[in-house]
Amino acid sequence: MEERQEIQMNVMPRIGDQAPDFEAMTTKGKIKFSEYAQDKWVLLFSHPADFTPVCTTEMSGFAKRKEEFAALNTELMGLSIDSIHSHLAWVNNVREKTGVYFDFPIIADIDMKVAKLYGMLQPNESETAAVRAVFFIDPSKKIRLIMYYPLNVGRNMDEILRALKALQVSDENGVAMPLNWTPGDKVIIPPPKNLDEMNQRLEDTSCERIDFYLCKKSL
Ligand code: BEZ
Repeated sequence: MEERQEIQMNVMPRIGDQAPDFEAMTTKGKIKFSEYAQDKWVLLFSHPADFTPVCTTEMSGFAKRKEEFAALNTELMGLSIDSIHSHLAWVNNVREKTGVYFDFPIIADIDMKVAKLYGMLQPNESETAAVRAVFFIDPSKKIRLIMYYPLNVGRNMDEILRALKALQVSDENGVAMPLNWTPGDKVIIPPPKNLDEMNQRLEDTSCERIDFYLCKKSL
């Protein structure tokens, strides 16, 4: 019989939860999360380790598209289980070698406190390094979307930006986003909740209707 691996289970934050608060040392000084980026979205993301190849490409990806995140009222915050000295040396090294500067706070989570709080430590993947997590946190500090990637596969920056934009457009318009939605595409009108609404929807000529439960419109 297959032996069951013992896993130290953390309570994992879930979509809809308030983002757990913490205080941490970062490359931009000490930050109390609940006081950070007031009235803004925050992307809190982890990488396994400084001075590793995939992580370098990912962090450079975040840094290069910082203006697109800023245009979406979004601040970035990285994390790994490395020291401040390691972070500073890595940031400087990447700047010297490539000209890309990681100008956003990176948490030095040497005691793994924040990684454990956010379920970024997944021991069957690695006991010493955080997986590649991204928490999309809205201005009320509610967790709205979570991505987890393993150590050997880098994330997709286009998808991170697309998902962030989709959340924001969904909130602003009370609509849902279909498969592969990108800005400019039609959006989904929430389905009717009772028979009256269903009958109204069946008469509605203003939307593209497949049936009463699947109607799209342009914004
Ligand atoms: C990387 O970023 O290349 C990496 C980090 C940890 C484990 C494997 C790959």
